[in-house]
Amino acid sequence: MLKIVSARDYDDMSRKAANIISAQVILKPDTVLGLATGSTPIGAYHQLIDWYKKGDVGFSQVRTYNLDEYRGLSHDDPQSYHYFMRDNFFDHINIDLNNTHVPDGANPDAEAACAEYDKMVADAGYPDLQLLGIGNNGHIGFNEPDDHFSKGTHCVDLTESTIKANSRLFEREEDVPRQAYTMGVQTIMYARMILVVANGAAKAQAVHDMCFGPVTPQCPASILQLHPNVVLVADKEALSLCE
Ligand code: PGA
Repeated sequence: MLKIVSARDYDDMSRKAANIISAQVILKPDTVLGLATGSTPIGAYHQLIDWYKKGDVGFSQVRTYNLDEYRGLSHDDPQSYHYFMRDNFFDHINIDLNNTHVPDGANPDAEAACAEYDKMVADAGYPDLQLLGIGNNGHIGFNEPDDHFSKGTHCVDLTESTIKANSRLFEREEDVPRQAYTMGVQTIMYARMILVVANGAAKAQAVHDMCFGPVTPQCPASILQLHPNVVLVADKEALSLCE
């Protein structure tokens, strides 16, 4: 079942998403969280940091597994998702860094890096709650539109659309890595609850296709229609085609 929660704007979307994550962690302090990078979840992370500082929520027993990482970047590269997670979330809360996991983009052996990550996520019992952004092209993690749904963690070639979208965070478009390691769609579907966040008009088509389009690997997020417990928190612009 897919539940749609409408938010007024980005801040409202972020607070609502943070509320859902916070409730999960309060109810189950040793929660396994699947986490996402990108611009969309930053507000939710910052809200959670704020509530942590106020003593409302703690992360000492939480374990996290991120969706993806660029291939070929070291963990301390400011463009890496390892760095992003520390910078935007982990360094500001009481999480044990040994309990945080991001695919090892620094390992050039794609097969080994992906198999190792799959095993870690499986051994953790898969996320209780998986946070997801959605790409303009309907991707989740770095699972790009394709002719089939992916299974476990694997190495992908990024599409031109994703390279262009992500180039805003790099000095030059040529600097955007061309490959990434990403959790597969099947792994994402194993999460017990999925929380999708989306804002802005650029996401409207992808959000519509995710909720109401045919279930097709051409819009990887559309498979979420088959998941028993999905919540989409989106602002009015991202929901503009869903009315
Ligand atoms: P964004 O990315 O949050 O930076 O828009 C979302 C995604 O590509 O999954």
